[in-house]
Amino acid sequence: MPSDRYAVIGHPVGHSLSPTIHARFAQQTGEDLEYSRIEPAENGFGEAATAFFSEDGRGLNVTVPFKAEARAWCDRVSDRAERAGVVNTLTLQANGWVAGDNTDGIGLVRDLTVNLDIGLAGVRILLIGAGGAARGVLEPLLGETPADILVANRTAARAEELAAEFQADGPVRGCGFDTLDHEPAFDVIINASAASLGGALPPIPAAVIARGAAVYDMMYGPRADPFLDWGRDAGAATVSDGLGMLVEQAAESFLIWRGVRPQTTAVLAALRAEQGE
Ligand SMILES: NC(=O)c1ccc[n+]([C@@H]2O[C@H](COP(=O)([O-])OP(=O)(O)OC[C@H]3O[C@@H](n4cnc5c(N)ncnc54)[C@H](OP(=O)(O)O)[C@@H]3O)[C@@H](O)[C@H]2O)c1
Repeated sequence: MPSDRYAVIGHPVGHSLSPTIHARFAQQTGEDLEYSRIEPAENGFGEAATAFFSEDGRGLNVTVPFKAEARAWCDRVSDRAERAGVVNTLTLQANGWVAGDNTDGIGLVRDLTVNLDIGLAGVRILLIGAGGAARGVLEPLLGETPADILVANRTAARAEELAAEFQADGPVRGCGFDTLDHEPAFDVIINASAASLGGALPPIPAAVIARGAAVYDMMYGPRADPFLDWGRDAGAATVSDGLGMLVEQAAESFLIWRGVRPQTTAVLAALRAEQGE
């Protein structure tokens, strides 16, 4: 019998570590599956996803730039993906429908609280960026009962609108970068902006970093270095890129698909060793 088929779909997707991560999960748990990459043209998501599932594909991870389109395309959406506004996991259901979910938020929270041992209850969090990644993590972050989350974005209005949407979930405000000078320092600073993609640093005053703070970039690999160096130079006690978030969101997808949650510690350590860290 052929192995169950899964894939990551994105554009570009050649760089994706998801096939490596899921191959390790499958080996560890003894699950019989194969996991590949699909890179349709930028307007080709719907056609490629339809073809994959009609040819008996079982599940897809969805990455840039298709996460919002995936939410509109699938037959039903989980509550957390509805709140997140984007879908990163598609699963074929027994009745032939494709269900959409979002595991990015829980992936970030697990990386922070379990892998990095950063307590979020009662702390002040600065979330930089107000795009899909920031939206996807707000509800799970607020679920950890921080004292306060400030969403700061290049376009202030987007941060204010995003914060307003999540007001009922906990203490969250939005602002532009220019007002950060007047804020007391933060315990956890998370870069959810795409600045690191282009090698840029968001223009944030170093005074936002409290003594002993944690600085985190959702970007992983060398492109996270400028932000993490900035955090280290400003006195952060812990700095981390988003590789752990990537592994943890993958483990949550694997759990949805296979009913078993792989252990992530060894997989994350192996990936870091391969990256020469
Ligand atoms: N580790 C993981 O598993 C994981 C998962 C999801 C996402 N991510 C990462 O998260 C990042 C954001 O993704 P996204 O989907 O949210 O992207 P997005 O929806 O395109 O949003 C981009 C955000 O970045 C801001 N931005 C872009 N360039 C900037 C710059 N030069 N300086 C300051 N702000 C800038 C934008 O501000 P404006 O509103 O002003 O345009 C916007 O808030 C990406 O680096 C992605 O790789 C990682």
